[in-house]
Amino acid sequence: MRVLVTGSAGFIGYHLSQRLIEAGHTVIGFDGFSDYYDVALKRARHARLGAHAGFSVVEARLETPGAVLAAMAQARPDVVVHLAAQAGVRHSLENPGAYVESNLVGTANLIEAVRAHPVRHLLFASTSSAYGGNTAMPFRETDRAVTPLTLYAASKLAGEAMTHSYSHLFGIPTTAFRFFTVYGPWGRPDMALFLFTKKILGGEPIEVFAGGEAVRDFTYVDDLVAAIDGLIHRPPPLPGAAGPVCDADTLSPVAPYRLVNLGGGRPVRLDAMIDELERALGRTATRILKPLPPGDVPHTHASTDLLRALLGRVPETPLSVGIPAFVAWYRDYYSKPV
Ligand SMILES: NC(=O)c1ccc[n+]([C@@H]2O[C@H](COP(=O)([O-])OP(=O)(O)OC[C@H]3O[C@@H](n4cnc5c(N)ncnc54)[C@H](O)[C@@H]3O)[C@@H](O)[C@H]2O)c1
Repeated sequence: MRVLVTGSAGFIGYHLSQRLIEAGHTVIGFDGFSDYYDVALKRARHARLGAHAGFSVVEARLETPGAVLAAMAQARPDVVVHLAAQAGVRHSLENPGAYVESNLVGTANLIEAVRAHPVRHLLFASTSSAYGGNTAMPFRETDRAVTPLTLYAASKLAGEAMTHSYSHLFGIPTTAFRFFTVYGPWGRPDMALFLFTKKILGGEPIEVFAGGEAVRDFTYVDDLVAAIDGLIHRPPPLPGAAGPVCDADTLSPVAPYRLVNLGGGRPVRLDAMIDELERALGRTATRILKPLPPGDVPHTHASTDLLRALLGRVPETPLSVGIPAFVAWYRDYYSKPV
C-alpha cells in the first residue's frame, strides 16, 4: 500500500512510518517541522526513515493553502494516517493559536484533500484528553465526551467531529483513535518521562504534579503502532453493512466511521512511574510536589473492550520493560555529539 503519514517526523509518526516501511509499504511522510520542540530531533528521526527506499518526504505545513492537496495529488495514497498536530495539553494555555492553525485549519485542509483524492481508509489521532471532565472509569468510547478541559482537547474533539462529517458526506472510511499517554524511544521532549530523565541525569529536582497521585494509562509506542497497523486493515463498514463487533462498538449509524481507544487499560500512578525510572537510571530523584496544573486531568484509564474485539489483543508492554528501553535510547542518543 501507499500510506501518507502526516506528522512523520514526530514521535509516533516516526515509529509508525518505520513499521509500515518494514512491512513493505511505501510511506510518504508529510511534516512541517514545527518548532514546538527540538527540530534536530525531528530531523534525526526523518534521517533514519530516509535511509529506506520506501520513504519519501513532503516538507510543508497543513495550514498552508493547497499544500496537503498537492501532496495528495502527487502521492495518490491508499491510506492516510493523520498524526500531525499541535500536541501538548499545557502549551494550549499559552499558545492557543497554534492549535487553531494546525488542528482545526490543518485538519480541515486534510479532509478536503482526502475528499478530492479518496482513500480506502483515513485514520485520525485524537486523544484521551477528549474525555475531559469525565470521572467514570475506565473511559469508554461510548461515554459522552462533551467537557474538554483545554483548547487542545477541544481541537481534537473538533477533529473527531470534522472527520465524521466527511466520512458521512463522502463515504470516507475513517477510524479516529484516542491515544493514551504514549512513551518510548525517540519520545517527545515535552512529556513527563523525557523531562524527568533529563533532569534526574542533570542532577536537578523534578516537579511532580498532583503529589504523585495523578494516574496515567501509559502506552508503549511499539504496542501503539502495532495496533494502528492492525487497524489500517479494518476500515469501518458502511452503515448497515455489518453489525457492531461488541457492545462497546462506536460504529456510526450514518457513516463508515468508528472511534477507538488506544491504551492498555492498566493505569499507573505517576509516583510509581518515577520509581521505575529511578531503577532504570540507577539514580534517585529529588521530587518537588506540585498541584495538578490547570487543564490536566487527574486520572486516565482506557476501556480496551473495543480494541480487543477488533484486534484480539491490546497494548501490554509494562513500564518495567518500556522505561528501560526509553532510558537506553536516551543515553545513547544524547551521548553523541549533535
Ligand atoms: N504522544 C502522546 O502521548 C499522544 C497522546 C494523545 C494524542 N496524541 C496525538 O498523536 C499525534 C502524534 O503525537 P506525537 O506525540 O508524535 O507528537 P509530535 O509533536 O512528536 O508529532 C507531531 C508532528 O506533526 C508535525 N506538525 C505539527 N503541526 C503541523 C502542521 N501544522 N503542519 C505539518 N506538520 C505539523 C510536527 O512537526 C511533528 O513532527 C498528535 O496528533 C497528538 O495530538 C499523542
